Amino acid sequence: MISEASVSHKPKVFAIIGGSGLYEMPGFSQLDAIETPYGFVHGISRGTLNSVDVFFLPRHGNHHQIPPHKVNYRANIWALSFLGVTDIVAVNAVGGIHSEMGPGHLCIPDQVIDYSWGREHTFFDGSELCDKVSYIDFSEPFTLELRAVLQQQCESTLAPNQFSSWGTYACTQGPRLESAAEICRIRRDGADIVGMTLMPEAALARELELGYASICAVVNWAAGIDPQELVMAEVLATLEEALSTVNLLIAGAIKSLSLHK
Ligand code: HPA
Repeated sequence: MISEASVSHKPKVFAIIGGSGLYEMPGFSQLDAIETPYGFVHGISRGTLNSVDVFFLPRHGNHHQIPPHKVNYRANIWALSFLGVTDIVAVNAVGGIHSEMGPGHLCIPDQVIDYSWGREHTFFDGSELCDKVSYIDFSEPFTLELRAVLQQQCESTLAPNQFSSWGTYACTQGPRLESAAEICRIRRDGADIVGMTLMPEAALARELELGYASICAVVNWAAGIDPQELVMAEVLATLEEALSTVNLLIAGAIKSLSLHK
């Protein structure tokens, strides 16, 4: 259960990072590419959701041209921080491992296990771009306040079995899906959902002291959990339906956060 302890009161600037299936926001205007020390970031747009000013960044590019392991996570988070963003709500498509987190379920994870490798995963890399090395506290990877408002939105919109306000996200390398044995291991490790993009994004946001939470749409059972073969058309249909709900939930959450004094 999420409580509203440790709520911060500084003015907030919100960004949404869209995952698979979420590449643009209706009515938003594209910004010019942003140059960062880590490369250019294309595709950020700006607009309003429920009268609140919001930035939007499609993590995979506007046409899903960037695979999970090639996303320039550092440039993306740096660019959002440069634009003055204080809080990020990420959208991630995932596979379900927990028996109650099947296709169509929404999960606001509270923990993460990172199985990805070879990604540029820190700003504190000892290069000339970094003037200090910090060992961030990542014991709670997600911002409580953001998770709490997302949970409130889910509670007021969805039936209790349609969402979970907790869950451990396993971040795999991709772009292939996992083997059944890999999912057995990941399940034994304690993960409830599996995706490819939450890390290092969440940790980089923490390094730059940005609030960060994710809302994950389960689009398939993870490998070996359901004996039936994965049908891509069904996955895409589930994704599309989930994302229209997710958009409403995020718009409500951002409105509610913007009203917090
Ligand atoms: N595994 C990893 N990432 C995913 C999956 C999956 O089963 N489904 C959607 N993203």
